[in-house]
Amino acid sequence: MDEKEVVSQDTLKDIEEIDKQVEESVQGVDSTRSLNEARNRFLSKAGAISALMKNMRNIPPEQRPSVGKLFNALRERTEARFKALEEILKNSELQKKLEAEKLDVTMPGISAPWGAYHPNTLVVNDLVSIFSGMGFEVFEGPEIENDYYNFTALNTPADHPARDMQDTFYISDELLLRTQTSAGQIRVMENKKPPIKILSPGKVYRSDDDATHSPMFSQMEGLVVDRGITLCDLKGMLDEFARKMFGPEVKTRLRPSYFPFTEPSVEVDVSCFACGGKGCRLCKGTGWIEVLGAGMVNRHVLEGCGIGDEYTGFAFGMGIERIAMLKYGINNMKLLFEGDTRFSKQFKG
Ligand code: PHE
Repeated sequence: MDEKEVVSQDTLKDIEEIDKQVEESVQGVDSTRSLNEARNRFLSKAGAISALMKNMRNIPPEQRPSVGKLFNALRERTEARFKALEEILKNSELQKKLEAEKLDVTMPGISAPWGAYHPNTLVVNDLVSIFSGMGFEVFEGPEIENDYYNFTALNTPADHPARDMQDTFYISDELLLRTQTSAGQIRVMENKKPPIKILSPGKVYRSDDDATHSPMFSQMEGLVVDRGITLCDLKGMLDEFARKMFGPEVKTRLRPSYFPFTEPSVEVDVSCFACGGKGCRLCKGTGWIEVLGAGMVNRHVLEGCGIGDEYTGFAFGMGIERIAMLKYGINNMKLLFEGDTRFSKQFKG
């Protein structure tokens, strides 16, 4: 039987029309999404081919088998068309993905930002390395101290006027935030027999706050106790320290000063490493820069720690921030406390 003869021209036109539309919509497909949209338009339950099939009722019964075949063929053709398209699309999408994920092993890696040492840390590291080269060991005392270690044992009893030199944060009558790393001297001398040679870095606290003072700052303490230690030993050691810390030409000088726990007491200056001593802005025209306090350990202090007459010693203490500011030309102390990375990343250890 010739199907065409029993199928109406209208039905054949309908089928032809759908074929044409499928071809057209296939041209517009460029992604899985547009493919599914197009496919649904023809093949879903509400799609064009189903709609056509629903028309079957209106077709004369003798034509139905032939029309049914033609409709099924149309459906299969359309399904195959979209299937083929899907394959092509998948391949090209995979291709694109592979393209995008292509790894060039010769490209340089993404570097992680480097941290930097805080200037205080750089100074402490320098000091520890200079002094450990001279045989000093590091001792770290507590930041919360007894009044006894911070003052009384350092020859500064309760009514001593020298207590006014340091504005103290008290926690209770007995406890305070240490105002000086000198407190550690006592802890060491109570526990260790001479020879003693220690270096003690740490944070200290004073109720002080302006451009050159902070309520919390850092100090480095040094203590040497042995037989026959004199002020000359202190001076010789300071000379060595100054040359290593600030440059080989740098000299030191001692000026008389006062601390309750040293006698005699001195203020130590170094010759200006910026101008060589001629006078400049850094040294305020004097050619000298004050860097630390020092002196021979007061006999009362040694006695209080049970250290006999045969021993003498010297101690020194310096402000870490002050040294950092001098060494790195930092003009505002607050920069050392703000944690601004634009500042800190300029320092490399
Ligand atoms: N502790 C003193 C201060 O903070 C410094 C110092 C230490 C002086 C050791 C002499 C000896 O001012």
